[in-house]
Amino acid sequence: MAAAFFFLLMPFFLVPASTHLQSTEVGFISAVISEKGLDFAKDILIEKAISSLTPLNLPQIDRVLKIPFVGNVLVGLSNISIYSVNVPYSNVKSGDTGIAIVASGATTNLSMNWSYSYTTWFFPVIISDNGHAHVQVEGMEVGLTLGLENRQGTLELSIMECGFYMKDISITLDGGASWLYQGLLDVFEEQIKSSVENAITNNIKEGIMKLDSLLKTLPVEVSVDEIAALNVTFVNGPEFSNSSIGFEIDGLFTAAHKGVSTGNYFMNSQPPAFCNCQNKMLEISLDEAVFKSASNVYYNADSMQWTVDKVPNPSLLNTASWKYIVPQLYKMYPNDDMILNVSLSAPPIIKISPNNIDSTVYSDIIIDVLNDNEIIPVACISLEVSATGSVDISGNNIVGNVGLVDFTMSLKWSKIGNFRIYLIQSVMRTLLKTVFFPYVNIRLRRGFPLPIIRGFTLQNADICTGSSQIVVCSDVVYADSNELRLLPYNQIQSFLGFGV
Ligand SMILES: *[C@@H]1O[C@H](CO)[C@@H](O)[C@H](O)[C@H]1NC(C)=O
Ligand SMILES: *[C@@H]1O[C@H](CO)[C@@H](O)[C@H](O)[C@H]1NC(C)=O
Ligand SMILES: *[C@@H]1O[C@H](CO)[C@@H](O)[C@H](O)[C@H]1NC(C)=O
Ligand SMILES: *[C@@H]1O[C@H](CO)[C@@H](O)[C@H](O)[C@H]1NC(C)=O
Ligand SMILES: *[C@@H]1O[C@H](CO)[C@@H](O)[C@H](O)[C@H]1NC(C)=O
Ligand SMILES: *[C@@H]1O[C@H](CO)[C@@H](O)[C@H](O)[C@H]1NC(C)=O
Repeated sequence: MAAAFFFLLMPFFLVPASTHLQSTEVGFISAVISEKGLDFAKDILIEKAISSLTPLNLPQIDRVLKIPFVGNVLVGLSNISIYSVNVPYSNVKSGDTGIAIVASGATTNLSMNWSYSYTTWFFPVIISDNGHAHVQVEGMEVGLTLGLENRQGTLELSIMECGFYMKDISITLDGGASWLYQGLLDVFEEQIKSSVENAITNNIKEGIMKLDSLLKTLPVEVSVDEIAALNVTFVNGPEFSNSSIGFEIDGLFTAAHKGVSTGNYFMNSQPPAFCNCQNKMLEISLDEAVFKSASNVYYNADSMQWTVDKVPNPSLLNTASWKYIVPQLYKMYPNDDMILNVSLSAPPIIKISPNNIDSTVYSDIIIDVLNDNEIIPVACISLEVSATGSVDISGNNIVGNVGLVDFTMSLKWSKIGNFRIYLIQSVMRTLLKTVFFPYVNIRLRRGFPLPIIRGFTLQNADICTGSSQIVVCSDVVYADSNELRLLPYNQIQSFLGFGV
């Protein structure tokens, strides 16, 4: 019968691929859920379905049985409840427009109270009895095909088909008259079957509707910090292959609370990147444009500007230690403290190539002297710094680290006359290594969130860089929040979202 079920589902797989809408939207972050990932998701769904079925109370059944030599007997089954469900085998397949899940060989146990009453023709009294019974249902097949579509940036889940088949039931009676057993089997078998079928299919339909409402509450934007947000609007797709489902999201950084796009970006990456994701549940690819948009957002927010008045070696910020390298500075402002006013003169450039992430940062450093509580700008140095970076995964965040490769300097303006810029090279190198890079790395270590649905956490993530893209291959674990199932809908919303 399992085979019959697959045939039932066949038409679904034969929907021609040409029904896909062609779209010109670009998703700069894409995610592919592999066969292993689909299996994992299916197991969670089935586990959720089982836990929502047990215990489950079914409506009472009353019937009049015609029993030979006894007559008409009113038999009632009450307190019918499903108390255990076992699904030994299940399967998930991705089709052209959705997903098919089949659970087979499932068994379920029910308990119930029975009661009967009748009057005999020879005694005008009511004879009645009651007791308890167990029913075991075997060989259940449940098949479900789900459609998944992108509707204006959010995912919509729908039930395309839900099929049910049940092979056998067996009843164990505690007590009761001997005729009762056969009577129950003859008359109640179909009713118990259809009542179990209704209960299970309704429960699945309800569960899927709930899941669909949850998907609709996924935000289109994830807050990163007070400056930036990540646009997680779904674009195109989803893309179904015979063993995986692919999603694309806009994936660009936007200015927080502004709700405006920060410019036009073009897809740089050329898939497929070399990355061995085969044994992982999830593959997430981030195009270089994602990092470019982040760079622009932070630059435009003026957040890449800061004042340096403390350094590990404080004497560096006193004109005394510049006595021999810029003598005129010391002569004009002897033993005065200095502060550095650092700002970027352009958004940092980030280039991703196989096995390498390179960055170029253009900045201006204004040297201010503190003289009699007055801040006096004395010179400005333009600095072009090239750095190399590496990325890693921490929790659900992508984190980074950068190191100095090289830098070049030029004097932009000076109020203390010209000076040989190469003389301050070693001071600058020290400042870069002990102040600027550590500062940037503190922010990068906090990282930026990957669009992972709340409740799921990346595990055993591998990260690799291809041409213009970064690819994360990972398994996920699910932190089961049972309260989700028990909460009313409006409270569930705050539980679901992207992020950690
Ligand atoms: C149903 O079961 C509950 C306890 O599980 C019991 O209190 C109640 O009396 C039962 N109802 C019938 C009609 O047997
Ligand atoms: C159902 O009950 C039978 C006998 O009472 C038992 O052998 C079986 O393990 C039970 N099944 C489940 C899924 O609890
Ligand atoms: C009815 O079922 C409940 C459990 O569902 C059981 O505790 C109770 O004893 C049963 N009543 C009779 C009269 O058998
Ligand atoms: C899935 O598709 C690939 C090619 O796209 C093919 O090689 C593979 O055999 C297919 N697998 C199944 C189970 O149909
Ligand atoms: C987010 O992305 C979608 C799809 O690309 C786009 O239509 C929308 O304007 C973007 N939102 C912002 C705030 O940029
Ligand atoms: C730093 O320099 C910028 C101009 O580049 C200026 O607007 C700002 O006021 C300066 N800040 C300090 C603390 O000197």
